[in-house]
Amino acid sequence: MRIVILPTKQEVSAFAAEAIAAVINKKSNAVLGLATGGTPLSTYEGLINKHQQGTLSFNKVRTFNLDEYVGLLPTHPQSYRQFMNKQLFNHIDINIQNTHIPECLNSDYEGCSSNYETLISEHGGIDIQLLGLGSNGHIGFNEPTSSLSSKTRIKTLTKKTIENNSRFFDATEFQPSLAITMGIGTILKSKKIILIATGENKKDAVADMIEGSVAAFSPASALQLHSDVVVVLDKLAASKLKLYDYYIQTEQSRKKLN
Ligand code: F6R
Repeated sequence: MRIVILPTKQEVSAFAAEAIAAVINKKSNAVLGLATGGTPLSTYEGLINKHQQGTLSFNKVRTFNLDEYVGLLPTHPQSYRQFMNKQLFNHIDINIQNTHIPECLNSDYEGCSSNYETLISEHGGIDIQLLGLGSNGHIGFNEPTSSLSSKTRIKTLTKKTIENNSRFFDATEFQPSLAITMGIGTILKSKKIILIATGENKKDAVADMIEGSVAAFSPASALQLHSDVVVVLDKLAASKLKLYDYYIQTEQSRKKLN
């Protein structure tokens, strides 16, 4: 696991945008795995800027989002489909038909889930997966105690996740407690993974993910099993890491070698 600690949230976002752009510039028909939530917003802004400056094209790119609420239509303002359209897809030259969200519009949840897995495989798998981190250690909506080899399926959200995400909903608005999410096993099949986490409220989950045991109680710790993961943190999110100085030193050595 490569650990990159940067002074600010802005630098974390810029690093992630560069990493994603590098994959697309190497492979124009790259398959991206994308996340929603607050953390990736500035990364998406960075990608939009690169597109507007003419240095990045998404016209052959395909995307698969990690998750979606169950019970919200894709037209609902709080759906992850609307989030992605508004925050990224409407501002770049991507073919909207090539953007996939694990929507389940009927009650055949098993069918929707296995179709999503099949679709990802049919397109050759994910070249780079962008992840955020829940303050309880979730990745996608794989809540603590999710199987580390899980596939796309329906998950019940924890009280903490519902509380954390209530900031996106009006007080009187229906907020779903179920979501369809790629599994941890699905995420681990991605060729490359970049996880971004910022802010003090992520520091415990970050420490468990990097320095704790691999355990279903800390879903993100499963990333320790992947051979090409970069975790990009601001100083606050990294502040509980025991080997903080070592990670800084390792990145300095890497720069010298390059
Ligand atoms: C959403 C997702 C979640 C978020 C996580 C952190 O698609 O995958 O795992 O990344 O809940 O959310 P923020 O970034 O809002 O702190």
